[in-house]
Amino acid sequence: MARSAARILLRTPRLTMREFTAADFDEMLRLDSDPRVLKYINGGKPMPRSEVETIVDRVTGYYALYPGLGVWRASRRDNGAFVGWYCLKYCPPTTDVEVGYRLLFEAWGNGYATEGARALVDYGFDQLGVTRIIGVTHPGNKASQHVLRKSGLRDAGWGRYYNRRLRLFIAESSERSRDTNRSFRSFRFGGR
Ligand SMILES: CC(C)(COP(=O)(O)OP(=O)(O)OC[C@H]1O[C@@H](n2cnc3c(N)ncnc32)[C@H](O)[C@@H]1OP(=O)(O)O)[C@@H](O)C(=O)NCCC(=O)NCCS
Repeated sequence: MARSAARILLRTPRLTMREFTAADFDEMLRLDSDPRVLKYINGGKPMPRSEVETIVDRVTGYYALYPGLGVWRASRRDNGAFVGWYCLKYCPPTTDVEVGYRLLFEAWGNGYATEGARALVDYGFDQLGVTRIIGVTHPGNKASQHVLRKSGLRDAGWGRYYNRRLRLFIAESSERSRDTNRSFRSFRFGGR
């Protein structure tokens, strides 16, 4: 599939999120080869090609299996550069819906994680109608915990996901304020 044909999920002021295709393998490999990126995911071990191939297969098949959910490729709107990915998907081994993100080291420190996560939280509540969104992190991943808090999730202690004991953050639709300045007002969903 040509890159330009991949379905766009949403745009934020600085980012475009679209579905991954098999043609994005090299970008995924670059992301998952960086020990700095993987520090709190697997202890910083670069993933072998075969594992990344499995991930890309799973990610590209997910959209049809679970419409509305997925892992989306993010790029900068100003120059098209790959930034990383964001997800809104079931958090194994549960059916809790999880917001997540994994960004290239070069992209850190610009507020991109927060910008994308907020957009996906809004998308989940307002477009999909989910009533609860969680975020889970390694206990040492303070930056990610900060991103989740800034995205409207509250600290909920600990949970067991991915067969690990992780810090758990939760947002519930019933807790959302009506006058919150939601980011969906400043971007649009869909399109190509
Ligand atoms: C976690 C990650 C997504 C953050 O991306 P980012 O675009 O730099 O995040 P943002 O700029 O939106 O926000 C990060 C916030 O955490 C803060 N922060 C960064 N490092 C921190 C640390 N060690 N301790 C506490 N806060 C920290 C930043 O100052 C910023 O807060 P501020 O805007 O109030 O100053 C990025 O580092 C990443 O992709 N890491 C690898 C993958 C990963 O760990 N994913 C999350 C798995 S749970």
